[in-house]
Amino acid sequence: MKIIVTKNYEEMSRIAAEQFAEVIKQKPACVLGLATGSTPIGMYEGLIEKYRAGELDFSAVHSVNLDEYYPIAPDNDQSYRYFMNHQLFDHVNIDKANTFVPDGMATDVEAACRAHEDKIDELGGIDLQVLGIGQNGHIGFNEPEENLQCFTHLTGLTESTIKANARFFASEEDVPKHALTMGIQSVFKARKIVILASGKSKAEAIKTMVSGTITTACPASLLALHPDVTLICDEDAYSLV
Ligand code: F6R
Repeated sequence: MKIIVTKNYEEMSRIAAEQFAEVIKQKPACVLGLATGSTPIGMYEGLIEKYRAGELDFSAVHSVNLDEYYPIAPDNDQSYRYFMNHQLFDHVNIDKANTFVPDGMATDVEAACRAHEDKIDELGGIDLQVLGIGQNGHIGFNEPEENLQCFTHLTGLTESTIKANARFFASEEDVPKHALTMGIQSVFKARKIVILASGKSKAEAIKTMVSGTITTACPASLLALHPDVTLICDEDAYSLV
């Protein structure tokens, strides 16, 4: 695993945006694997800036998102579809028909999970996947558990994740208790993975992730098995290594 430690969140975001920009320039019809949460917002801002400066063209880009709460409507301002539209898609020339977020309103959940997985394969796989990391080491919504799922599936959120995500909702009770998420193998199908972390609250998870052992108690530690992963994190997130 390649590790880049940055001074702060801004530098982490700038370097991550440069890596994404590189892929889009080299392969205009690339497939991007995207994440939500606080961490990638600066990177998305960097990509929007590059688009406005005329450096990037998203017209042929496709994207696939890691996860979505369940159940949640796409126009709910806490949904990950809403987040993606507002943080990135509305500000660049991507065709929204080419952007795929798991269906948080699906009545047939199994079919929705299969459809998401099939979409990734149909697009020819993800060229570059961005991940954040949970304080408990989760990636996507693959929470620490004895057994992890390979492919897109419905999962329950842990208490720790519900608490961490409560900051986006009016109250903790409002945080959905379930999500649809890509599995470990869905993430591993990406040709290249960038994982971002910022702040002291991620330090414990980053320490476990780069410890040189792998454990399903820290799903991010499994990334050690992927041939092309770059961790870009700031000094605070790296402070316990
Ligand atoms: C989001 C996702 C989650 C987040 C993680 C970190 O699509 O899959 O795994 O990346 O919970 O969230 P933040 O960035 O808000 O600390």
